[in-house]
Amino acid sequence: MSLPIVDTFGRKHTYLRISLTDKCNLRCTYCMPKEDMQFMPSKWLMQADEIQALAEIFVDMGVDKIRLTGGEPLIRKDVGQIIEELGQLQSSLTLTTNAVFVDQFIGTLKNSGVRSLNVSLDTLQEERFYAITKRDHFSKTLSNIRLLLAEGFIVKINMVVMRGVNDDEVNDFVGLTLREPNLHVRFIEFMPFKGNQWDMSKIISYADLLTSVKSEYDFVQLAGDSHDTAHTFQVNGGAGTFGIIGTITHPFCAGCNRIRLTADGKLKNCLFDTSEIDLLTPLRQGSDVRDLIYLHFHKKHFAYGGHVNFSEKQAKSEYEQNRNMIAIGG
Ligand code: GTP
Ligand code: 5AD
Ligand code: SF4
Repeated sequence: MSLPIVDTFGRKHTYLRISLTDKCNLRCTYCMPKEDMQFMPSKWLMQADEIQALAEIFVDMGVDKIRLTGGEPLIRKDVGQIIEELGQLQSSLTLTTNAVFVDQFIGTLKNSGVRSLNVSLDTLQEERFYAITKRDHFSKTLSNIRLLLAEGFIVKINMVVMRGVNDDEVNDFVGLTLREPNLHVRFIEFMPFKGNQWDMSKIISYADLLTSVKSEYDFVQLAGDSHDTAHTFQVNGGAGTFGIIGTITHPFCAGCNRIRLTADGKLKNCLFDTSEIDLLTPLRQGSDVRDLIYLHFHKKHFAYGGHVNFSEKQAKSEYEQNRNMIAIGG
């Protein structure tokens, strides 16, 4: 076993997020701003065997949790094979998906040891779903979430809360958790990425989200893990939980354990850091990529790709230099 990936702040990096594609069957404005996005040519993408080879190296370096993201990971033609192979590793395996194709993969997910999936869903209203995603997959998404629960999976719903778009639905989402022990909802502060028209005024802050839930429900905070993105709560007498991912007003960088691999094989040491390094080319040339990985994480900043505090001014200039969220993988 190789040495773990530890940065200069002593943070051990054990959670690998692998983006399988920058393509998606939805067009959520906060993630993929343009309908006519230029996607990566397929020859740039990591092939299934390259994903497996890199994942094996990361597991050898101490990774014990792998998350597949996209774009939408389940639109990739060889995703079944990728899930099955990654499922063999000494690491937990999970996905973040929009759930539209999930019914086609129930058997594969179960056989590969996947127990929990994170599903993006920003509204419980059909017309609004269309307005946000520009696609007509509302009922399929809901029926697939029900299917996952019926099949015994744990489902975390990710809702990006945006002022004037869906902020009036927060308590409806909390209501979903009252009777379903395997259902967890997380409210996410809208984050700035290239082209997504981010503005601080569109965020519903951690504090405002709590105030909104308090107006209808009594709840308690649950203990969490230092690496969690979400602070988690439970309505008194409820079965599932709700959480808040307060990237902007309640950052969790001190406990960051995340490694990101983009679909074209670039390593990112922070969601907001643009200094990526290429792992795919050296892998294709037969080089050992471990030293590149250690070095890149040795350069990792404490937070936000180099800023200790989040700044609206920086967000509007620097974060525009980052990739679109869809090309990072969340
Ligand atoms: P769990 O393993 O269930 O805790 O999932 P997760 O929260 O790590 O991942 P998920 O893909 O569900 O992402 C939920 C939200 O958290 C998304 O909006 C992500 O962009 C955001 N998020 C995930 N990882 C990071 C991170 O490293 N930094 C920041 N700032 N936000 C993140
Ligand atoms: N701000 C916050 N969360 C976002 N996601 C995508 N774009 C943004 C953004 N701009 C979320 C998706 C998905 C997760 C991987 O990231 O909803 O669930
Ligand atoms: Fe980690 Fe960067 Fe996210 Fe902070 S902003 S939690 S340092 S990836």
